[in-house]
Amino acid sequence: MLRIVVCVSGGGTNLQAIIDGIKAGTITNTEIVGVISNNPGVKSLERAAAAQIPAFVIRPRDFAEREEFHKAFLDRLAELSPDLIVLAGFLVKIPEEMVSRYPGRIINIHPSLIPSFCGTGYYGLKVHEKALERGVKVTGATVHFVNEGMDEGPIISQKAVQVLEGDTPEILQKRVMEEAEWVLLPQAIDDIANGRVCMENGRSVRKV
Ligand code: GRF
Repeated sequence: MLRIVVCVSGGGTNLQAIIDGIKAGTITNTEIVGVISNNPGVKSLERAAAAQIPAFVIRPRDFAEREEFHKAFLDRLAELSPDLIVLAGFLVKIPEEMVSRYPGRIINIHPSLIPSFCGTGYYGLKVHEKALERGVKVTGATVHFVNEGMDEGPIISQKAVQVLEGDTPEILQKRVMEEAEWVLLPQAIDDIANGRVCMENGRSVRKV
């Protein structure tokens, strides 16, 4: 049974897709052992509570130094002892030490086709604003293993989504979530939980 911790910051629609996938049996061999949010009072926490999943708020501003936040974050993770950490709309830079402590065991969902519209400053609605500004006809989402960089780790899967006439950033974000994020992330977790995907020698490898 793959023990996963899901890290969130806001609405938690990706967390909900994972919860629903486990309930529906489209994600097997997986248990969410905890949710960690860097923000209190967000919908993600309501979703965790409704699914009886232990949830923890670890907020950078509650600590005098960033290192103290990192320690609190890493200590909580150690207590939960996850096999896999899932960054699902998590908008905080993770401690570098976390990558070395959990090599090949942290994944992230990004709302674009990496390497487009990613890296520092590209998160949430901003990603879709930039895609519309550039006038791309196709965008999508990417699930990747997390390394020291920002959105630079080995890509696990991607799914393309059409950009339509009249799209606003909000409309496009919703379509990318519905058609790509909420499909790719549960699929990636199920693949990892059942040994079909892993990270080997710094690359994402599909076994079967
Ligand atoms: C959304 O912008 C999504 O595209 C990205 O993170 C943000 C919040 O997602 N992955 P969620 O609803 O909190 O899962």
